[in-house]
Amino acid sequence: MATPKALILAILGCAFFCSAAFAARDLNDDAAMALRHEQWMAQYNRVYKDAAEKAQRFEVFKANVKFIEAFNAEGSRKFWLGVNQFADLTNDEFRATKTNKGFKPSPVKKVPTGFRYANVSVDALPATVDWRTKGAVTPIKDQGQCGCCWAFSAVAATEGIVKISTGKLVSLSEQELVDCDVHGEDQGCEGGLMDDAFKFIIKNGGLTTETSYPYTAEDGTCKSGSTSAATIKGYEDVPANDEAALMKAVASQPVSVAVDGGDMTFQFYSGGVMTGSCGTDLDHGIAAIGYGVTGDGTKYWLMKNSWGTTWGENGYLRMEKDISDKRGMCGLAMEPSYPTK
Ligand SMILES: *[C@@H]1O[C@H](CO)[C@@H](O)[C@H](O)[C@H]1NC(C)=O
Repeated sequence: MATPKALILAILGCAFFCSAAFAARDLNDDAAMALRHEQWMAQYNRVYKDAAEKAQRFEVFKANVKFIEAFNAEGSRKFWLGVNQFADLTNDEFRATKTNKGFKPSPVKKVPTGFRYANVSVDALPATVDWRTKGAVTPIKDQGQCGCCWAFSAVAATEGIVKISTGKLVSLSEQELVDCDVHGEDQGCEGGLMDDAFKFIIKNGGLTTETSYPYTAEDGTCKSGSTSAATIKGYEDVPANDEAALMKAVASQPVSVAVDGGDMTFQFYSGGVMTGSCGTDLDHGIAAIGYGVTGDGTKYWLMKNSWGTTWGENGYLRMEKDISDKRGMCGLAMEPSYPTK
């Protein structure tokens, strides 16, 4: 039987060796994490200005990876997160990036427009809509570090109605909006509003193609005289806070939608149907390009985002549909609108 002194020594010994073992494991973890950070930097072409910035970014990266892994390990959710291009940004930084902060809610109460789908019967709508399968959606684009989600959102909805009414899918120019549309809320990379973009497209006599006025992800001087490749006649707002009305519109054409894209779950969304709590401070413009129901009966909106294909489901996002909050998941039902031909 151990004497008290031996027992104390044994405990101290364990304390020493055990903490050394833990420290070694931490070091191994850090080494593995540092390697992961290096690989991530290479994958996303991230270059830091010095060792101090790299060390600081590494701490953020590590905390995000741990958050993502802990979230996914809970296992009880309908969606999961992934280590994407935003992995070295804190959530506060992400909320402040132009990538996320580009939508400017209307400063004045909107005057109600007509709603041409008002009399559509929801019961008569198809259970699933995916405008990609009808060839009305161009490939995922990437706005980069320019707060012009509003332009991408408006262009996606315009590309949709143009394809539906003319049979031709044409990738249209966001840059023309960024450079030339400087009225209302629209201020290039400093943000804008989809309805103001529609107004510009109408007044401008259409938009030119992506190829003839390519995206640069920065504010530029308006190159006038570009040939219009697609036109719209007008635009309408979907009645606010009414997911059934939004469904009528989305069944008919892709729709511009504003959401609160600032949550950590939005930052790192990787797949599945986003559910649960979400903010409603609208700061990001996307496009609703369909809806559906999963095998387990979860209803969702299918959204096209403009953060490249490394975010979400190859650039797309599914968000829970018909939730009890009338504003919709992340406020998606608050300010939807669409162009008309
Ligand atoms: C919907 O139906 C009502 C009643 O028939 C009609 O007055 C209204 O113009 C219709 N609205 C649209 C957008 O077709």
